Amino acid sequence: MIDIKFVCALGKVSLKEKMSKILIKNIKGLVQVGEDLPKVRKGKDMQTLSILENAFLALEDGDVIAYGLMEDWEGITDWRDLEIVDADGCFVLPAFCDSHTHAVFAKTREEEFVDRIHGLTYEEIALKGGGILNSARRLAGMSEDELVEHAQKRINKMIVLGTGAIEIKSGYGLSVEAELKMLRVIKRLKQTNSISIKATFLGAHAFPTEYKQNHRGYIDLIISEMLPQIEKEGLADYIDVFCERNYFSVEEMEEILLAGKKHGLKPKVHVNQFSAMGGVGKAVELGALSVDHLEELTDEDIEALKNSNCMPVILPGCSHFLGIPFGDARRMMDADLPVALASDFNPGSTPNYNLFTIWSLACIKMKMTPEEALNALTINAAYAMDLAETHGKICLGSRSPIILTNEIPSLAYLPYSFGENNVQRVFLS
Ligand code: NIG
Ligand code: FE
Repeated sequence: MIDIKFVCALGKVSLKEKMSKILIKNIKGLVQVGEDLPKVRKGKDMQTLSILENAFLALEDGDVIAYGLMEDWEGITDWRDLEIVDADGCFVLPAFCDSHTHAVFAKTREEEFVDRIHGLTYEEIALKGGGILNSARRLAGMSEDELVEHAQKRINKMIVLGTGAIEIKSGYGLSVEAELKMLRVIKRLKQTNSISIKATFLGAHAFPTEYKQNHRGYIDLIISEMLPQIEKEGLADYIDVFCERNYFSVEEMEEILLAGKKHGLKPKVHVNQFSAMGGVGKAVELGALSVDHLEELTDEDIEALKNSNCMPVILPGCSHFLGIPFGDARRMMDADLPVALASDFNPGSTPNYNLFTIWSLACIKMKMTPEEALNALTINAAYAMDLAETHGKICLGSRSPIILTNEIPSLAYLPYSFGENNVQRVFLS
């Protein structure tokens, strides 16, 4: 594994160095720590955080080798070649997991942002050839190398803001060649970054213009040409479909997800962003790892999610940016469901990758408590990208990067002080 060395004006990242030993002492609160944390926190349990006050944490090559109360730490750690970090007044948390991003893209789309200020909606912009098709046109002319270079800069900025695992979707290719190009870019990013990256094939993000009247033709292309090559090159972990009016119907989603499963890809889908069409129930039935967006939600959707292993993922950055409803996390938690939060970072509906902003939005706009939202960004988010064993928590041997905050009065200060960067340092494993 090669670590990419980078300098970022936003903050300090400690890259894995051979035989590095770090002792973080006097930690005001060591958060999400323990050997028996659950893989998912749901309903009322989302209020629970596992915190050690006045604690220490010892890292060796980025892996957790010991932790506990300050009063118990003497003698636990070998003092030779040890960097000591005094975290008096500071919190230490597992890095966030961002289980839903579109971080590989060609260019930003601020002209559509201005169009929306002038009154057009996201859907109207898409219908006149903007939106996802706009991004696809721009990406077609870019090389794999250029896309890697741009995406890496974004990933570096995400890491210094405490994001320690990232799912990245294709979906701005929309042709065999360009979808494969995007996935090869993501594969290269996986190989060159020390944080975990998961790849999702989202060929079914929109119908390209030439297939607008020929859905069958495009779906055949996905099934017969894209999926076999994706499997052959090992390019994806998951398969996604944008199930929405004017995009893919529930039946179309089903056909594509079933084909993806035959090629070893687990479903993880965009549903209920603008309309509830029954996609949640169908995705659950097909064994989806997560259903994402959920700005719209019916009683049937809630019922389908109960007794399933599917994680509902809410994307408040998208709701904020597009001015659409926020996902009803409270209704889900009241139904004893878990909730995860993600950024949805993309150039169209959510040009934000800062998960501290997402934490604030969840509290301010969705009335999640700071504790509920932190569970949604760590334990539940790790589950939504199959990283529950190693991420979203701090335990012996855990592989998650770790966030050290600045001196702050309380944990709730983090979502409260929206827009402020409180990250002092990130330790990569
Ligand atoms: O999750 N809704 C579909 N896909 C993205 C937006 C893509 C874009 O506008 O470029 C989303 O919001
Ligand atoms: Fe998305």
